[in-house]
Amino acid sequence: MTDDTPAAEGFDEDPSASSEPDGGAVVVEPDEHVHVDPYERNWMRIAAFTMVVFAIAVTVAGLALGIQVPTDEGRVDPNTLASTPPWSEPGLREIVPGEEYDLYIVARRFAFQPMEVEIPQGATVNFYATSADVQHGIKLGLAGAEGRQASNINIMVIPGQVSKLTSTFDDVGVYDYICHEYCGLAHHQMAGVLRVVPAEGGE
Ligand code: CUA
Repeated sequence: MTDDTPAAEGFDEDPSASSEPDGGAVVVEPDEHVHVDPYERNWMRIAAFTMVVFAIAVTVAGLALGIQVPTDEGRVDPNTLASTPPWSEPGLREIVPGEEYDLYIVARRFAFQPMEVEIPQGATVNFYATSADVQHGIKLGLAGAEGRQASNINIMVIPGQVSKLTSTFDDVGVYDYICHEYCGLAHHQMAGVLRVVPAEGGE
């Protein structure tokens, strides 16, 4: 079979060459050139351009602006959280008084532990979060609402995984942390409050 095809081509070339000696090769060249409609060519240029823009944006955001995705800090068995410190007692831990805190959050349908947190202004908070059941999320802040603050804190809360994110709170205000991954019928009720209060003896 494989021998027949080259032989057939070779056989065809000779008669065409003999009947049209000049045209034989000339006819083949335009076929090799793929015709692309100008509109399609422009869309290909736009697609290539946007990919370059995105690549630059990701590089600048990651290296120059220091914007990183929450890191996978570790693993924990979601079934034994209640007996695994520090998850057995979620909440705020003071690392450097008034300056740095660890905040351990356990998410489960349909609440966070803890539901209320209070930190002093200027504090740096290391968020550690994990889930006891299904996938949840933590979105901190509610833009636009009066008296509330916006933030860019957004954490995936995944059973078996510890997510970590660090942020500093320079402004006094009230933040909501809401679940942003649909986790069941009462998903919309899953929210906690983080208060940033004026630092004691800050003067
Ligand atoms: Cu938890 Cu939605």
